[in-house]
Amino acid sequence: MPSEQNNFLTWRSRWTFILAATGSAVGLGNIWKFPYIAGENGGGAFVVVYLFCIALVGVPVMVAEVMLGRRGRKSPISSMRRLTTEAGLHGFWNSIGWLGAIIGLLILSFYSVIAGWSLAYIPEMATGAFQGANAQTTKTIFETMLADPDRLVFWHSVFVAMTIFVVAFGVTRGLGVAARVLMPSLFVLLIVLLLFAYRYGDFSAGFSFLFSFDYERLTLRGVLEALGHAFFTLSLGVGAIMAYGAYMPAEASIGKTVAIIALFDTLVALIAGMAIFPIVFAHGALDAAAGPSLLFISLPVAFGGMQAGVLFGSLFFILVTVAAWSSAISLIEPAVAWMAEHKGVNRFTATLFLGFLVWLLGLATVFSFNDWAEHKVLGMTFFDGLDFLTSRVLLPLTGLFIAIFVGWYFAAEHAREELNGEQSVIWSVWFYLLRYLCPPAIATVMIVGLYDSLVAGG
Ligand code: PFF
Repeated sequence: MPSEQNNFLTWRSRWTFILAATGSAVGLGNIWKFPYIAGENGGGAFVVVYLFCIALVGVPVMVAEVMLGRRGRKSPISSMRRLTTEAGLHGFWNSIGWLGAIIGLLILSFYSVIAGWSLAYIPEMATGAFQGANAQTTKTIFETMLADPDRLVFWHSVFVAMTIFVVAFGVTRGLGVAARVLMPSLFVLLIVLLLFAYRYGDFSAGFSFLFSFDYERLTLRGVLEALGHAFFTLSLGVGAIMAYGAYMPAEASIGKTVAIIALFDTLVALIAGMAIFPIVFAHGALDAAAGPSLLFISLPVAFGGMQAGVLFGSLFFILVTVAAWSSAISLIEPAVAWMAEHKGVNRFTATLFLGFLVWLLGLATVFSFNDWAEHKVLGMTFFDGLDFLTSRVLLPLTGLFIAIFVGWYFAAEHAREELNGEQSVIWSVWFYLLRYLCPPAIATVMIVGLYDSLVAGG
């Protein structure tokens, strides 16, 4: 919960910030997306590249975002405007703020459709629809759901309403408490599932799939996906972390805080992978490269065969939904905060308006799975295209702008001031990575990867 200090709001403690930012970072990206893209890209090789992307690119950019937010103390768009004007820099850099806010809305439009699947699975689980089900049955249940636009629209609407509800009445009140209770529960449940996978799944096959490095399987497309996902999973490039950073107490150490958030986020993704793949390999009919349906087809088989599967299965999808919920709030927050800064627009109206736009756009994602499934551009449905555009193009692009802005244009002494809690070695490593490694690495991976995906069809 924030308190009023020196004319700006700050979280009560560093831990509230850590929990809120972890709530933003840990979401569908960790539990749904990471396992399936690791599966599609051959496992181990992808995981290693992903970990490098998190440590060498994601963490430095996250530090930069928190630093800009805390220095600006406003919505990301206004913070960027304030910082560029103060430093006498070109207005181009403001694009970091507004581009981020737009990307957040685009992501939320499909994020809430997927979160809707998770919502829909709660009553399915609770009523025992998956009890004793084999892979074929769970596949049919999932495909029947996707083929029914009315059902998808219904759950998508429920999820958008849940998000609007929290954001309209204030992010800070309630969210801190929710994060404090729900994040640890999610962690405990994942551990339970991990134990289940260890006991009943093919644990060693799952382990070697995720952790054995096999060069042959590494593709350019995989590297691009790993980098894009590092941004997605850490909630970078959207302004969400910048918006939350604006409430960070002045004395808290940014470096240590970011390290904790990144560690939590990575652990959740790896544990989710280790809970899912052993189960997939134990059931011959399931495919590790199944794609987006992995979580919704393979896990229910496991729950269906578990003693207390009805209970654990329902609980699991409740927690996936909650993880998605705390992320969704942070996706819409930058745009809402910016609109609400204007005279005549209150937070409530801003949230309703933007929530409606997101809901409307989300319908196109809904239809990507049924009525429009055959309409493809460059081999992609609308949903595939939006996911590609946001995670693999726009997020890295904003990340690139942030790295160049903070590394090369922002006054180093101001950055030093915000990061004065860090040892000088850490500061130097951070600054070096941000200046010399992040920009060329992001640019190269983006350009080569885009060429490979779009032109070479690779
Ligand atoms: N980090 C979230 C996840 O992994 O599911 C997704 C996300 C949330 C991305 C908030 C960006 C953001 F601003």
